[in-house]
Amino acid sequence: DTRYIKVNPAHPEAEAVREAGLILRGGGLVAFPTETVYGLGANALDGKAVARIFEAKGRPSDNPLIVHVAAAEEVGALVRGISDRARLLMEIFWPGPLTLVLPAGKAVPAGVTAGLDTVAVRMPDHPVAAALIRAAGVPVAAPSANISGRPSPTTAEHVLQDLNGRIEAILDGGPAGLGVESTVLDVTVPVPLILRPGGVTPEELREVLGTVEVDPSAAAGLGKAAGRYRSPGMKYIHYAPRAPLVLIEGRPDAVAAKIRELAGEQQAAGRRVGILTYADSGDFSSAGVVVLAGQRGKPETVAAGLYAALRRFDELGVDLILAEGVEEGGVGLAVMNRLRKAAGGRILRVTEQG
Ligand code: TXA
Ligand code: MG
Repeated sequence: DTRYIKVNPAHPEAEAVREAGLILRGGGLVAFPTETVYGLGANALDGKAVARIFEAKGRPSDNPLIVHVAAAEEVGALVRGISDRARLLMEIFWPGPLTLVLPAGKAVPAGVTAGLDTVAVRMPDHPVAAALIRAAGVPVAAPSANISGRPSPTTAEHVLQDLNGRIEAILDGGPAGLGVESTVLDVTVPVPLILRPGGVTPEELREVLGTVEVDPSAAAGLGKAAGRYRSPGMKYIHYAPRAPLVLIEGRPDAVAAKIRELAGEQQAAGRRVGILTYADSGDFSSAGVVVLAGQRGKPETVAAGLYAALRRFDELGVDLILAEGVEEGGVGLAVMNRLRKAAGGRILRVTEQG
């Protein structure tokens, strides 16, 4: 069974952290909160422990993991050199939701990098994550702590829904902060490239770096159609609730009209329709079962509520979900990337009203 250990999120109890650290050192799996989502940790230098992550999540073995450190000084042992640019980014954004893709060092097992010659590294900004990594005394490989394909967990309860009995322990430090994952930035290429939009926005990165590109498949949240992938994780369907999700994008008034029209048709056909919308959008309660994910005018609130909202539809047992898109500014880009991936290609762009 999975050991459930409650900890104080701001000041985690030393005994609890020590115990979890020992489990990691011994090759076990421990789920823990970060400032983005919950992670599923293993000793990043232990190939066998890392293999157990893939098994527990049902994760395809060609999708590499992020290595988590408690201090920037720990990165040297994991990589073949740190460029001035990478160092600057660490100084400015660490600890925080920025993952850097760097040339991989020899110490990193192939299971972590999925055989690539790069390794993704980040320093999380959460007292529990930091304390756990220090207690383990090793870098910690950690994907999001969900079954592969499901929405990432933002609470310990979400983790247990997916992984209870499959992992040694979970540290419950309350809800994770941002609600969407870290930004994955490739700094091994001439122009830094965002492989996955996340907590640190393109705008923030551009202030520091000047030019930053966004991988087209990352922006569009495309599946297989995108062809070649720099970040293997981008090609899989992800974040998906059980019921099919249709994403409707475009001008808010046109989107609202389309949702009402589609919901009406579906209800008439006897289907239970779920509607993913926002507190500052229209009232859709007559059109279906409404779940709110924050306020569309404040993308941070949508990020914080998105995954819980997607999981909520599973509990409500809807047959179909109609989801309203949001603006792509700031963390809105990460939100739209996740919604497009959850839709798995079922995306409608409406242009005119009605
Ligand atoms: O916020 C986060 O990043 C969370 C928390 C737990 O830290 N972790 C997370 O891990 O989201 P995961 O495994 O769910 O997503 C890692 C992403 C995947 O899209 C993967 O393909 C990409 O990072 N990635 C990992 N190593 C890479 C590499 N060497 N090159 C390119 N992409 C890489
Ligand atoms: Mg994930």
